[in-house]
Amino acid sequence: MAHPQPEALGELAQLLGGLGLQVETARSTVEALNKLRSHAAHVIVSHHATTTAGHSFDGVSMLEASLLHAPDALRIALVTSPDEAVELDYRPAHGGTIIRLVARPNERSRLVAVVGEGVKLLGLVEEQRELVRRLSIDQAKLQKRETLLDVVVKERTKELEDSYEKLKAANRQALFGLAEAIEAKDPYTKGHCGRVAAFSLVLASEAGYPKDGLETLEFGAFLHDIGKIGIKDAVLLKPGPLDDAEWLHMREHPVKGYDIASKIEMLKPIMSAVRNHHERWDGTGYPDKMKAEQIPIAARIVAIADAFDAMSTDRPYKAALPLAECEAVLRKTAGKMYDPDLVEVFVTRHLGELYGDYADNLTDVG
Ligand SMILES: [Fe+2]
Repeated sequence: MAHPQPEALGELAQLLGGLGLQVETARSTVEALNKLRSHAAHVIVSHHATTTAGHSFDGVSMLEASLLHAPDALRIALVTSPDEAVELDYRPAHGGTIIRLVARPNERSRLVAVVGEGVKLLGLVEEQRELVRRLSIDQAKLQKRETLLDVVVKERTKELEDSYEKLKAANRQALFGLAEAIEAKDPYTKGHCGRVAAFSLVLASEAGYPKDGLETLEFGAFLHDIGKIGIKDAVLLKPGPLDDAEWLHMREHPVKGYDIASKIEMLKPIMSAVRNHHERWDGTGYPDKMKAEQIPIAARIVAIADAFDAMSTDRPYKAALPLAECEAVLRKTAGKMYDPDLVEVFVTRHLGELYGDYADNLTDVG
């Protein structure tokens, strides 16, 4: 509080002290600004301007200068008449931060009320500012945590996906190794598994098989003869025709394959192709004597692909048949051996031309 007259200063200090405020007084601008440098002021009250005994005091200039030291303080200029208040409005640079209060000596209680309310208001503003500050810190922390979590989750997901893909690739490799073991045991079937898989895939696609099941089907077709691992070499590799007992043993391969497949989690979805690829449409096949649509569609597809490949490649006991003849045999036996609708798709679209060694064999037969 700055005022050039000591008696007025004393009176005002006493009044404001009654609000429970710590009051500092100054009699000149220099003294006031010095005190503002060392004390954080919330309210600055000044008499606006006086000239007493040749000593001039410009309170409003002091208030304007105080902006530098206490930018948020409530600034009050005491004026003695409403005219002065209006006049002060025209002073540049005070920026509206100065409240001009007409306070005659008998109206001091108005000053106390304004200061009291002002202090309360400043307290609220400070609280609000603190709240906003804390909220923004919390929010920044939260955002940082979220971003971090996001990054961690993404990394972990990618790691999991990578290991799943690796595991899948390793499993596939192991199973293809198994299929190769069958082919190694029976060299006459070299390439047979791969071609059956390729014909099955193209037939399934053309026949509208569910897209998300194609990979499993291809896999099942590839491994359909996995049970031949359990067939005695004397039977599997016999150059001549098999006798009845040998045929019975040979026909165990779908069930032997099923026994293997059911022990390996990854092979479960393809068990039907392994177990039922020798069923016949008329119910005379093996091992379950299933009929028509009872036979799982994967097994029906593999049966056609298997038969086509057997006819269209050279075997020790017979030469490969031309495409048209293979197709004629399929058509003739459709409805007895094979699903007639699937045979129709395979034959009319000449799917046998599309994959495998068929073209080479044609040239050889040429
Ligand atoms: Fe078979």
